[in-house]
Amino acid sequence: METDRARLASRGGEDPDRRTASDRDRRSGTPRAEEPVIESRDLSVFYGEEQALQGIDMSIPERRVTALIGPSGCGKSTFLRSINRMNDLIDVARVEGELYFHGKNVYDDDVDPVALRRKIGMVFQKPNPFPKSIFDNVAYGLRVQGKDDDVERKVRTALERAALLDEVEDRLDESGLDLSGGQQQRLCIARAIAPDPEVILMDEPASALDPVATSQIEDLVEELAREYTVVIVTHNMQQAARISDKTAVFLTGGYLAEFDDTSKIFENPQNQRVEDYITGKFG
Ligand SMILES: Nc1ncnc2c1ncn2[C@@H]1O[C@H](COP(=O)(O)OP(=O)(O)OP(=O)(O)O)[C@@H](O)[C@H]1O
Ligand SMILES: [Mg+2]
Repeated sequence: METDRARLASRGGEDPDRRTASDRDRRSGTPRAEEPVIESRDLSVFYGEEQALQGIDMSIPERRVTALIGPSGCGKSTFLRSINRMNDLIDVARVEGELYFHGKNVYDDDVDPVALRRKIGMVFQKPNPFPKSIFDNVAYGLRVQGKDDDVERKVRTALERAALLDEVEDRLDESGLDLSGGQQQRLCIARAIAPDPEVILMDEPASALDPVATSQIEDLVEELAREYTVVIVTHNMQQAARISDKTAVFLTGGYLAEFDDTSKIFENPQNQRVEDYITGKFG
């Protein structure tokens, strides 16, 4: 496992225009200030009359993995979708409060949600490759955005970053639908990162996968946090504990009960209901 990670890491470092001060800090082991890239302020989401999120305040740090956990129906997916305005696509959904991305409220009138989603990509629970070739799946976003120079290199880089290139290098023309479930999910991750977003939102990306594929996705998520900010919903508490830096615990009714360093949430939660949830007393 470590060798895979080291291999991927060294590859990830080949593209000089992706290097930043924080990358260098990470490599040299210098502690970084935790800069929030996403901040919600008193964010509420309603579906018709029903309030699904209750005034959420959260600061999501850059180039870290933030996990969202909590019982079914507590609003994890709703919160995730509010970050890149995917809730706009649900007719009855209404948002109140603010959601800042680099200090700009994404709900301001002058924000183009399509452009926003280029910066904040998304991966869903069920792998959903297009009925196209592996190559065309990954190239899709690049072409839609007119970033179609050097597509071949960009597709290969994205597949490499998604830890899939070795497995598909010789069959890029075959259908994405012919891959295994775990490979399909890594293909969807490659498709999401090809247009070079800053943030990747993942809604239970491994819950439909077997344990081997799940562990590959977990390794990949940790690796991706070198270059991207990752926000991941999971039902699996061990998974949250293993791969995330920060954990947000939502509780029924759409309340954010606790948000802190993952180690603190799992070892010393402040909220009794969070402790009960984490120790499996309910949910
Ligand atoms: N499209 C929708 N229309 C109406 N209500 C919705 C819609 N999506 C979600 N809700 C409601 O909002 C609340 C939060 O749902 P959400 O899907 O965000 O929860 P979740 O924490 O992701 O749950 P799960 O773990 O089951 O995926 C629930 O009461 C749900 O019924
Ligand atoms: Mg959900």
